[in-house]
Formats: sequence, C-alpha cells, structure tokens
Amino acid sequence: MDPEFVLDPATLDLHASDELLRRAGSLVPVLVEGVRAWAATSHSTLEAVLSHPAMTRDIRYWDAEARAAAPQGTSLMRLVTDASMLNADGEEHRRLRGPLVKLFSARQVQRMEPWITSIVGDLLEELAALPPDEPIDLRAEYAYPLPLRVIVEMLGIPDSHREPLRALTDQVVQLAQSPPDSSEGRRALFEMVGEIIELRRATPGEDLTSELIALHGQGQLDDAELRDTVQVLLIAGHVTTINLIAHAVRALLGRPAQLELLLSGAVPWSAAVEEALRWESPNAYFPMRYAMEDLEIEGVRLRAGEAVLACFSAAGRDPERYGDNAADFDVTRPSVPHLAFGHGPHFCLGAPLARLQAEVALPALFAAFPELRAAGPADDLPRLTSLLDNGIRGLPVLLG
Ligand code: HEM
Repeated sequence: MDPEFVLDPATLDLHASDELLRRAGSLVPVLVEGVRAWAATSHSTLEAVLSHPAMTRDIRYWDAEARAAAPQGTSLMRLVTDASMLNADGEEHRRLRGPLVKLFSARQVQRMEPWITSIVGDLLEELAALPPDEPIDLRAEYAYPLPLRVIVEMLGIPDSHREPLRALTDQVVQLAQSPPDSSEGRRALFEMVGEIIELRRATPGEDLTSELIALHGQGQLDDAELRDTVQVLLIAGHVTTINLIAHAVRALLGRPAQLELLLSGAVPWSAAVEEALRWESPNAYFPMRYAMEDLEIEGVRLRAGEAVLACFSAAGRDPERYGDNAADFDVTRPSVPHLAFGHGPHFCLGAPLARLQAEVALPALFAAFPELRAAGPADDLPRLTSLLDNGIRGLPVLLG
C-alpha cells in the first residue's frame, strides 16, 4: 500500500500480489502503509470477516487510530473515511443506509431499465459517428460515461458541475498522481459536493440529493453526513461500474468462442457479468474492518483493536472456491456466488444498479458493432495505478 510501490506500474501487479498473499495464508499479517494489519485473502475468511458481528467499519476501534499511528491524510485507507454509511455500524449504520435501501432495491432499479437503455442508445450513436477504422478508447467513450451519466442524473447534479466532476473523481480515486495532488483533489471534491447541495437546496427536484436534503431538514442527517452520503453515492456509484464494464468487454474481445455463446443466447449475459465481477473484482484491497473484542476467525486469533484488510480480488480467484482454473475467465463456469459486492450489513447498496447497467451495456455494444475487436492484446493492458480500484487505464478497440 506504500504509494511509491502503488504508483509505479513496474512494481504494481495486482494478481501477482493476490497470489503471494493467498500462498501465505487466508489471514496473513501485512503492513498497510507501514502499520500492522491482517489481510483476508481467501473467500471463506473474507466472508467470515465481513459478517462477523464484532468486526466493525468504525475506525475508532483501530488501536493504531487510538495511538495516532494509523495512516493519515492522503492514505488510501482514508479516501472514504467520512461520515457515510460505509464507516458506520449498528444503529448509526441503519439510520444512514435505511432511507436509501428502498430507492436502490432490485425492484425499484428494474424500473430504470428503459432509461438506462436510452442512455446506452445515445452513447452507441455517439460511437457510431466515430471513424470505424481508427482505434478508439472504449473505456473513455463507453464504459466511463454510462455509470457517470446514471449517477449524476440520479443525484440531480447540474450540468455546470458535470465535466469538472469527472476530472476530480478520477483524480481522487485512482491516486494516479502524487499524493499532494490527490489531497488537493479531495478538498476540491468536498467543495464541489457542498456547492451541489446548496444548488439543490435552492431548487429542489426529484433526485436523491433533494431527498437527502429533506432528511437533513428533518434532523435525520447532520451536515457532514449529508455531504458524505452524496459523496459516497457519487464515487461508489460510478468508478466500480466503469471497471466492471471495461473488464467484461476486454475479456470477451479476447475470447470469441465465449462471446458467441452469449450472442447466440446459449449463455445469459448475466453469467458474463457475474464472471467478470469474480474474475476482476472492481474493488481490490479495500476497505478494512476492526476487531471490537478479542475473537477468532478460522483458527486465527485477533486481538481487540486489530485491523483486517478485505482483499476482494484475491478472494475472487481463490482456487479452494473456484478450482484450479480460478484465474480463467469462463462464462460457462457453474454459478458460484462471489464476494465482489461484499457480504453482510455493508453489502453493496448499488449492486442491482451496477448489474443492470452492465447487463444492458454489454449486449447492446456487441449488437451495435458486430465487427468490434481489440486494437492490440486485450489481456495485457496497462492498469490503474491503484490497489484499491482494479481497473484498466484504457481499452483500445476498432469498431469495424
Ligand atoms: C458498498 C462493490 C457499484 C454504492 C460496496 C462494497 C463493495 C462494493 C465490495 C462493500 C464494502 C464493505 O464491505 O465495506 C461494488 C462494485 C460495484 C459497485 C464491484 C460495481 C460493479 C455501486 C453502485 C453504487 C454503489 C452503482 C450506487 C450508488 C455503494 C454504497 C456502499 C457500497 C453506498 C456502502 C454500503 C454500506 O456501507 O452499507 N460496494 N459497488 N456501489 N456500494 Fe458498491
């Protein structure tokens, strides 16, 4: 997690790190930016950690935090240490998550299908206007704008703030620049979310930000909780979905026989989406849990105050769970649930929304461009310099 290691594409190799960690054990001692912690690397251990009632997301339980030794400032572990549901547990977590559960339920999200299909249609039209025989970056032109447009619309973010936001969230989350820039970016994002809230307060609409402002008005959320809930929805709501779509497209471009099975209807597109989530978990190593008391997980004793890092990408390729070919992308794999959306009380609020977007975006793309192909080796593309987000920087393709 040392920024010097993470920022160097020559040293950073997520799946090699996963392999190393898994070989060392299912709960292994690691240093997270120099501070001792454990890493949960196997499927069963990660599941146990995420659902253990005495493992909390509340950083105040971390002994390193109490000693002021925990990573500070621009640390990867602090990117979302804010007042949102992600960092709360118990009653507080229910208060922060509860009002949003219904709005993000599978039933409610299913109603958005026509709207998402129309955004996908617009993006495909924009792609069709590009020259078919020159390489384009499908991540930037398709995987990126879809989830961003969806969440920006849902949050009621005004047009004036959309372009600057895109640059900022990229900067804040990818850590693709030096830490001082990243902290600058976080400050700018904070300010921008504050402005968006003020604009919606002045002219409320039928959007999530206006609903959250109303809850704040009723005393259900304080100022920081309001701002950080909007912020977590904004960031969690698009970055991971971009990476999911990009990984799935890249996997299929390199495996025409599997693509054929999907196009012919022999295998449903949902199988490709679930396999992509397992194979390249968009969340790599993030976030941590803290032991509220002494406890034992899979034979390892943790002391109160110790931290465990969730290694979702390692768990997704755990051979114990998925067999010796766990590293292979295979849409015909018998369905075995994965942990890419988490497990337990913090299970991803946006899972139905992310799944729907991918399940609409993938078949529509391959139907619109039957000649679509990778402009180079699709399985060896430069990755984001991050151990938090598992993504590729770009996806060069020829539309054909
Ligand atoms: C939580 C992954 C898309 C909003 C989580 C967690 C994971 C995850 C692993 C659990 C973190 C933990 O246990 O500490 C993903 C992936 C996505 C995705 C892989 C896309 C492929 C979305 C979308 C939204 C969203 C579209 C929507 C707005 C959230 C929120 C939480 C969360 C608010 C915190 C839930 C809580 O703490 O109770 N996500 N997510 N995510 N996700 Fe997602």
